[in-house]
Parts: sequence; structure tokens; C-alpha cells
Amino acid sequence: MRRKLVAGNWKANGLMADARALAQSLASALWHDEVDVAVFPPFVHLSATLDTLRASPVAVGAQDSSEFPAGAYTGEVTAEMLADLGCGFVLIGHSERRTLLREDDRLIGRKLSKALACGLKPILCVGETAEERDQSRAEEVVLGQLNSIWKHLGADGLSRLTIAYEPVWAIGTGRSASPQEADEVHHWIRNWLVQRLGLPARNLRIIYGGSVNRTNAAQLFACKNIDGALVGGASLKPDEFYEIHLHAAASRLR
Ligand code: PGA
Repeated sequence: MRRKLVAGNWKANGLMADARALAQSLASALWHDEVDVAVFPPFVHLSATLDTLRASPVAVGAQDSSEFPAGAYTGEVTAEMLADLGCGFVLIGHSERRTLLREDDRLIGRKLSKALACGLKPILCVGETAEERDQSRAEEVVLGQLNSIWKHLGADGLSRLTIAYEPVWAIGTGRSASPQEADEVHHWIRNWLVQRLGLPARNLRIIYGGSVNRTNAAQLFACKNIDGALVGGASLKPDEFYEIHLHAAASRLR
């Protein structure tokens, strides 16, 4: 059975004191063994967060990593630097980066290759816009994004990813996908993965992101195809993030 993953994406929020306080709250919490928990602070808060969470089961990851190796790439943060710092995970292809920074599937594929080569565990974000859903194109868009990545990485690379389904219309809007809507897309993704990878596809986690909070988490986690959550806004509130992880733990026991 797949372990659930509850991941907190802090985005570009907070100053150093906020990151330290948030990490300290998480460090003092009692986390359930059977759920994986990770947080994704801004780059400049990674070291402090890693130090604070060193003795805790909460893993730390980066919100992005460069397609480039070390070299003359001003402003870039390489995957090797992140792995060396102690990051386990990295988010790649978040819709905010796809939209605001015009990241396309080819760039995302190159970033994933680099991250995998450096031993990071990438979480690839995919999802359709409201317009695409209204045109009944959600399946085509999500599987299209996955197809591009598969062509770039091949089966071996694909089999090392975690997939986060994040409908763009649900991110930061307070309007989560319903458990049925999310579960349906996860089911499409799982079938697509099985067609490409065969049985090992059953080991890949597909997590949901988009306005997950303490109120809707239990229903989402109860879905057969939902293996955890990528939590934005609610991950900045340690009590709520902790509660979401409790729902993930409880869903394992049902
Ligand atoms: P949200 O963000 O929970 O604030 O909607 C999720 C995400 O962007 O990963």
C-alpha cells in the first residue's frame, strides 16, 4: 500500500523569523509514522528550516530547481546545491511557475532530469485551467502534460516521480475540487501510468493540491486514488497543517 504524503508549499511567504517560528512549531509536533510529511520553504529559508527540522521526521524540499549544472547561470539554484544542502524533495512545474514564469513542458522535463540525476525526489505538478475544464478538456490537458514529460524522461525517470494533480482553478481560490472530481482525474493518471510502466505504476504516489484545508482533507483522503496532498495556504498555519496530516493518518486506518 502506498504511504500518504502531506506536503506544505510555503510559496513566497514570510520572512526569516516567520520561517523559523513555523519550523519550530513543526519540530515540536508528534507526527504519525505512517504518513510522510514534507515542507517547501523559499530558497533563502531552506538552511534554517533544515537545521530546525533536523531531528524531526518532517522532510524539507525546494519549490523549484534549475535545469542547469553549476556554472555561469546568475540567479539559478542548482539541483546539486539543493541535494548537498540536505533537501530530499523538489517541486517542479507548479502552475504558478508555468503561468507567471512561462515554464513549458520542455523546460520542466529538463529540470526533472537534472533533479533526478542529483538524487532529488521530484514532485511534478500538473493540472488544467478553469477554461480547459469548462471545455471538457481536463483529461486531455493533464495527460498531455504527462506525455511530454514521459517522452523526455522515459519510463525509468517517470517511475521515480510523485505526481501532484493541481487544478489551476482550485489553487489559492478556496474552491477545492470535489473529492469525486479529484478522484476521477487521479484515476485517469493512474491508468495512464499503468499503460506506460506496468505494475510498478502502482507504487507511484498521486497527490492532490488546490485549497486543501482541515475541513475537506478527510473526504479527499478517503478517495481510493488520492495518496496525499500538496497544501499551500493552510500549510502556513502549523495547527491546520498538523490536522491535515492527522486526517491522512486516520485514512490509513479505515
Ligand atoms: P493552496 O495552494 O492550498 O493555497 O490552494 C496549493 C498549491 O499551490 O500547491
